[in-house]
Amino acid sequence: NRTEKEWMIKAHSLSAKLFHHVLLERAEAEPARKYLENRGIRLETIKEFQIGYAPASWDFLTSFLQKRNFPLELLEQAGLITQGKTSNYYDRFRDRIMFPILDSQSQVVAFGGRLLGEGVPKYLNSPESLIFRKSRLLYNFQRSRTTIRNEQTTVLFEGYVDVISAWQAGVTNTIATMGTSLSEEQTRLIRRNSEKVILCYDGDQAGIDAITRAADLLEKQGCIIKIAALPDGLDPDDYIRKFGSEAFQKKVNHESKSFVAFRIEALRRGRNLLDDGERMRYIGEALAVISKLTTAVERDHYLRQLAEEFSLSLDALKQEQYRLYRAEK
Ligand code: GTP
Ligand code: MN
Ligand code: MN
Ligand code: MN
Ligand code: MN
Repeated sequence: NRTEKEWMIKAHSLSAKLFHHVLLERAEAEPARKYLENRGIRLETIKEFQIGYAPASWDFLTSFLQKRNFPLELLEQAGLITQGKTSNYYDRFRDRIMFPILDSQSQVVAFGGRLLGEGVPKYLNSPESLIFRKSRLLYNFQRSRTTIRNEQTTVLFEGYVDVISAWQAGVTNTIATMGTSLSEEQTRLIRRNSEKVILCYDGDQAGIDAITRAADLLEKQGCIIKIAALPDGLDPDDYIRKFGSEAFQKKVNHESKSFVAFRIEALRRGRNLLDDGERMRYIGEALAVISKLTTAVERDHYLRQLAEEFSLSLDALKQEQYRLYRAEK
């Protein structure tokens, strides 16, 4: 006599096995296999992450689970099937690559489903349910937790595929949020397992904005933040495909910068620093960031950098910075 939660978890576990089997064995999954191959995702990886394929059918999963006596209302609440206007049920995920999402006990509790080509929505994720709370889970955490604890370092990504691609590149202390911004609960979960967090978000404006937000939240929990900034327009998976595993490992482990350095650098974007006015505004804003630093050693470090780069007198910068610092208090 199963509880509702147990029915939902059993249904997800069976669905994940079924989608995975379809991907590996069925003729109709050939385009899906080709798609993954073109993205450089290897067979070994498909197996490790139990990646699957949901066929282009309205009732493939619905009838499979119905035959096994799963209550349809429950499957609907769990987000595996959808109820149409005429009250008949149909498959929620159709013609999509399926990424199972596991909870801390390694049980499948949700899916992220990706289209094979262009289209909207690119990813269809399971809705919140009795067994799936997006703000409490982190993708891949059940697999990476031991490594993260041992290394006291977490690499945080935006996307599932970034995690999977990094795993292939030998970077395994990784997690990702699931299409939502980082929640406070997730930051507490991260802090309980690791002190250092390396943010490796997409190299676009959305990624930069998300880094700032995530770093603020994680700092509040007492994490040490590093930023692995990627070139314009590339996400971690793109970067790995373009520059290779070793370059990526280096980027993450040896070339990540402090949150302050990242913020000062972000101020340069879209600015012509050869223009006197723009340069002065940049220096003013950089000083404002520096003046918020808590230790004098840190403030001194970034002031020197700024003085050097623009051939300014360190004394003048210090005076100006001190004025801002006092104004803050
Ligand atoms: P690929 O194009 O497959 O490489 O995906 P990506 O991981 O690079 O996607 P992107 O950077 O656009 O988005 C990052 C994450 O946001 C994804 O892993 C999803 O969890 C989520 N996401 C992206 N697109 C959508 C969408 O259309 N709907 C929803 N609900 N989530 C999305
Ligand atoms: Mn079929
Ligand atoms: Mn993005
Ligand atoms: Mn991306
Ligand atoms: Mn991508």
